[in-house]
Amino acid sequence: MPMSSSDHTVFIPGSFDPLHLGHVDVIGQAVDLFGRVVVGVLYNRAKSGGLFTPDERRALAEATVADAGIDEVRVMTFDGLAIDGAVEAGADFIVKGLRTAADFEIEQQMAHTNHSVSGMRTVFVPCDPARAFISSRFIREISAQGGRVDHMVGPRVARALSDRFSAPNRP
Ligand code: PNS
Repeated sequence: MPMSSSDHTVFIPGSFDPLHLGHVDVIGQAVDLFGRVVVGVLYNRAKSGGLFTPDERRALAEATVADAGIDEVRVMTFDGLAIDGAVEAGADFIVKGLRTAADFEIEQQMAHTNHSVSGMRTVFVPCDPARAFISSRFIREISAQGGRVDHMVGPRVARALSDRFSAPNRP
């Protein structure tokens, strides 16, 4: 695996509810390509919701990235715009993983919008095709019904999902 000759900090924003192996692939590629990655877990102060709290998502993301042996990653929570999170993280630009053409459609619009309002650029990284089918939403849905998702997430997330959905008063 070629190591990065670059000295950039990049920001990868998302909901990460929960972070899965597709995210791990994109984070690993970004470290190799650019140097340092800050993962930004978006939360909305005015709105609760989601399966895991923002702090739980951050802790699970940190554990998953560490278990994957990826260094040079910091995880933070942020509220508001991705461009503000990127500035707070000290990032040079935003990185987004692309799974499909449908991802590209929406991400292209966001990239141009973010650049138009802030000057912050976005770089797209193609997700490993073997992991491009993975989605946090489907992971939540399948786990909630007792299905198997451990091939799509890291071990800490698999355990957290199983704890969450086997609890007596599960959501
Ligand atoms: O993991 P997700 O939910 O697909 O991530 C989407 C996310 C959080 C990256 C995107 O919704 C986003 O950037 N939200 C922050 C609000 C924002 O910056 N809006 C302006 C977009 S042009």
